[in-house]
Amino acid sequence: MSELQPGRFPAIRMRRNRRTDWSRRLVRESTLSTDDLIWPIFIVDGNNVRQGVEAMPGVERLSVDQALRAAEEACELGIPCIAPFPYTDPALKNAQGTQALNPENLICSAVRKIKAEFPDLGIMTDVALDPYTDHGHDGLLDGDTILNDETLDVLCAQAVVQAEAGCDVVAPSDMMDGRIGAIRSALDGAGHKDVQIMAYAAKYASAFYGPFRDAVGSKSALRGDKRSYQMDPGNSDEALREVALDLDEGADMVMVKPGMPYLDICRRVKDAFGAPTFAYQVSGEYSMIQAAARNGWLDLDRCMLESLAAFKRAGCNGVLSYFAPLAARKIRG
Ligand code: PBG
Repeated sequence: MSELQPGRFPAIRMRRNRRTDWSRRLVRESTLSTDDLIWPIFIVDGNNVRQGVEAMPGVERLSVDQALRAAEEACELGIPCIAPFPYTDPALKNAQGTQALNPENLICSAVRKIKAEFPDLGIMTDVALDPYTDHGHDGLLDGDTILNDETLDVLCAQAVVQAEAGCDVVAPSDMMDGRIGAIRSALDGAGHKDVQIMAYAAKYASAFYGPFRDAVGSKSALRGDKRSYQMDPGNSDEALREVALDLDEGADMVMVKPGMPYLDICRRVKDAFGAPTFAYQVSGEYSMIQAAARNGWLDLDRCMLESLAAFKRAGCNGVLSYFAPLAARKIRG
């Protein structure tokens, strides 16, 4: 056997490189750093409010003053960017989601205050109507149909309002066709040529968003499901077409969502385009790990870091994760 296959065992022993810690560190192909993290936070009305989200242990909705403390924490931990999402008072919701366009809404207020105090912290805001509509959909409705082209105008206005408030990145998460190009020209037309766009390019119609919809209060509101605009979980080639279109329309960065069940998509997207690629470790992924850890079934710290490192291995430049502050603390020791 050794004559026919001279390179094989026992000459080759894969375990040699794994024997010691220094050697494992030396041959490691990808590593997770605090620079890879984007921290999604939830904003709620009021003052000095920290409201636990039941299905997301360890995550709280924060009033703007408390969001400032979170921003400070992000800066201290070296987290490059935060991503605020609003819990909108049901009384402010309507079919058109007009509160999305109010320059005094929770997101715009939070962005203005955070930027004033922490100008060097990146802020990424979500562009979609679901936290603001009484039907819980990301776009405008006609009966049961989610209107594409009519929604684009509202998304453009929403993106411009967020840019005026001072966000660095807008992140359209609505999955309407043509929205990246429309938003790019709306931003440019309003004098915001340097505001970046992170496209939720390959966003699947996933059951893993459940806890998030609780956190932003859109769950009980949601009529039906989002399968007519978010992607079918069975599809992979289609994700490449989505990403190609968004890059062509002017996206600076692209995202795959959810994360862990879609690592194959992350790898294909990175290999095909080489563009800045991110994954969203969504609420359900966070809650699964937390729930198992709280039952004593998994080691929280190790599973958290392993799950995040997997995104780097799959080719992602970074990851949105509710674990961001916890992970940053672990990474920094
Ligand atoms: C809304 C939006 C969703 C998430 C981010 N932006 C939910 C949805 O599409 O229903 C999910 C995030 C998460 O589950 O953590 N457009």
